[in-house]
Amino acid sequence: MGRRCPRRRMLEAACLGAVLLLLCVAPRALRPAFESRPLGSGWLSGRRRSPLQILHDLDQGPRSPLAEAHRQRRDLLRRACSRHARRQRLLRPEDLRHVLVDDAHGLLYCYVPKVACTNWKRVLLALSGRARGDPRAIPAHEAHAPGRLPSLADFGPAEINRRLRTYLAFLFVREPFKRLASAYRNKFARPYSEAFQRRYGTRIHTPACGPESPAFLVFFHWERAHALCHPCRLRYDVVGKFETLAEDAAFVLGLAGAPGLHFPAPPRPRAAAAARDYAARLFQDISPFYQRRLFDLYKMDFLLFNYSVPAYLRLH
Ligand SMILES: *[C@@H]1O[C@H](CO)[C@@H](O)[C@H](O)[C@H]1NC(C)=O
Repeated sequence: MGRRCPRRRMLEAACLGAVLLLLCVAPRALRPAFESRPLGSGWLSGRRRSPLQILHDLDQGPRSPLAEAHRQRRDLLRRACSRHARRQRLLRPEDLRHVLVDDAHGLLYCYVPKVACTNWKRVLLALSGRARGDPRAIPAHEAHAPGRLPSLADFGPAEINRRLRTYLAFLFVREPFKRLASAYRNKFARPYSEAFQRRYGTRIHTPACGPESPAFLVFFHWERAHALCHPCRLRYDVVGKFETLAEDAAFVLGLAGAPGLHFPAPPRPRAAAAARDYAARLFQDISPFYQRRLFDLYKMDFLLFNYSVPAYLRLH
């Protein structure tokens, strides 16, 4: 065994090198993006400015409070990345599978489960013309069907590079433990939940402490936003928040030239308070030692997206 296929290895290394290169180039300062090659519809054929160009224009002129808030979030993310993100491994194309592509408008959207991602997929389907009519009418299973929306991972390095350079990239984040609590409530909180059993090979019994707590198991295996979207490797132009979903979604849709498209049902304020209480309740069943481990695991999501440590957490 040992050193088979050295040529193939070199080829793979070259491909990875190309991707690494493009990802190193990506987090540059905003720059107007011009793409003269007509690719069909929309801004690429020169009929209108791209979302990225419009954002750039917004940043040049007198800023609206909303545009200013988004600029500050971007700056905070960049500063937090340079302070906390170390030892970055190479990104492979499959690491970009959560970044969905809308070529018609020039958008890249990284989806994070439990942060309005079904509704964003519905909106992208409606925007890209893959589904007709009101986004709210698109069934959830259709929005999530694999292959409905292309992801960056489906493209080769040069095509990935071009899109990263010229498209407006955005993601939506949420307070990490509320996100976990919401996932837990939706998927696993029913007793003898089949989903839980399939995934973790055990049934939910009475509340247990420490790592046996079902909430701990779910929290420990759930994917972190920064591990899905690589916000320190890719340049995100808009960091949307679940806490301000309606305004942030309208901001993105305005940049995309679709202000008439309404984002489906933003969360009600009362639901936000309930999510916090529910997260606090789930953490009661987890010992301080494991609370610390969970916090360490999700620390980057707190730091990069400016969430403060929840008061209910017992870290000592
Ligand atoms: C970060 O969070 C603090 C406290 O919630 C807030 O005052 C500040 O405006 C936030 N910064 C940004 C850039 O969003």
